[in-house]
Amino acid sequence: MEGMLPPGPALADTVLSMAAARYVLGIDIGTGGARAVLLSLDEGTIAGTHTATYDTRRPHPGWSEQSATDWWQATCEAVRGVLNGSGASGEDVACVGVTGQMHGLVALDAQEQPVRPAILWNDQRTADQCAQMHDVIGEARLIEWTGKPALTSFTAPKLLWLREHEPDCFDRIAHVLLPKDAVRHQLCGEQAIDVTDASGTSLLNVHTRHWCADILEALDLPATWLPPVLESAAVAGAITAAAADETGLPQGTPIVAGAGDQAAAGVACGISEPEIVSINLGTSGVLFAACQGAPIDSTGGLHTFCHAIPGTCHLMGCMLSAGGCLEWFRDVIAPDATYAQLIEEAMNVPAGSEGLHFYPYLTGERTPHNDPTLTASFRGLTARHGRAHLVRAVLEGITYGLRDGLDLLGASGQQIDRIRLTGGGAKSVLWQALAADIFGAPVCTMQANQGSAHGAAILAMVGGEHYDSVPEAMAACVSEHSQYEPTRQSGIYTELHQQWKDGSA
Ligand code: XUL
Repeated sequence: MEGMLPPGPALADTVLSMAAARYVLGIDIGTGGARAVLLSLDEGTIAGTHTATYDTRRPHPGWSEQSATDWWQATCEAVRGVLNGSGASGEDVACVGVTGQMHGLVALDAQEQPVRPAILWNDQRTADQCAQMHDVIGEARLIEWTGKPALTSFTAPKLLWLREHEPDCFDRIAHVLLPKDAVRHQLCGEQAIDVTDASGTSLLNVHTRHWCADILEALDLPATWLPPVLESAAVAGAITAAAADETGLPQGTPIVAGAGDQAAAGVACGISEPEIVSINLGTSGVLFAACQGAPIDSTGGLHTFCHAIPGTCHLMGCMLSAGGCLEWFRDVIAPDATYAQLIEEAMNVPAGSEGLHFYPYLTGERTPHNDPTLTASFRGLTARHGRAHLVRAVLEGITYGLRDGLDLLGASGQQIDRIRLTGGGAKSVLWQALAADIFGAPVCTMQANQGSAHGAAILAMVGGEHYDSVPEAMAACVSEHSQYEPTRQSGIYTELHQQWKDGSA
């Protein structure tokens, strides 16, 4: 049957106590904190959530680091918190799923201890190493194999940076993990990675779903450092006695390989067919589309990753500052206003903000420009424009930027019937309606979307053998809430979007 899982590793001590269990648990090792979500097995509804935060250290400009110890403490707090808050006990949990911030480098020594703090996805120190990778491997070949160019976010350039700048640490490396895999390792004692997160290392061949020996050889990195690659819903291990003491989960509870935060969010949004895509409107804006086979955008504009559904891939476009632009605007120009007030004011301004355009590149741009040096600007500003015009231009500029990503998808031949909108921005009904007009397609919101941790819990439903396949679990647990159709303004926006693009030249 399509979507069925290949068998995971044999686990003698794994307990599939489905008869007694009422829930599955999803854990997200996010950038701001660890979040646990408890999902009911019967109805697929959210029974509780708990978040425990941690800090990011920035020892130099552009650096971004966290400690695996902080992740672990926050995980234990979040798991205990969600169990207590929901009146559940660890015995009620059938299976655990993990997800987390992608790309971060956790380098362990031979005793499985970190050789230094983890270097995160939003760390910008590796521009030179990305250029080196393109020189050594060839950018076109790297895109063909891994589905994307080398980017500063990714894991492999971080390893090259360590070799150059911290050789003592580099020489002690015996194992390489990603953030959620480091936490799973503490939970179950096994090292593993899933296909979606492995796709963000620059070391995985997305066609074969295995580490790419050619890339490892070209970069002179040992394959022995890398953990086995599993499909996302495959069982990767079982809670150890030590982890049971700290989390309250029973020893032997199975834990699945899980997924990177974007693929897990895609699962929580039910994205399994190419025609329905999701856009997560958070600080960044992420476009996520399931696809047939592993199509490669040779321009590097859209990025191909393995999806959490076995044998399938997804395309991803990432706009670095989406909601982040509105947040910046409010902080700098209107600190006393709420987002809802600002958006309401903006809706009294006509489409096109009376000639004012905003370019949303406050932190450079990934999709579609792949240019960290791009900057944001207002264009066409006159004395006639007031605060409401500025806000409308910001909302329109962000949404045009997302439309650019959708246009890349359309140009690749993918038909888009509907867009599922999630994240903070999706809470605004006015923004949903504006998005439908600018995208020229129906925009839906979701019934319950608790983001990546929710997706990890859905994967645990499959690992716990409650469903046979990821699409089946998604169909049971995910549903749409409301839908906005494009209005007559949509035609006007097609022209305005073109003017906006022409103006950026
Ligand atoms: C995905 C990406 C971010 C991180 C942190 O490519 O860089 O989404 O996973 O959330």
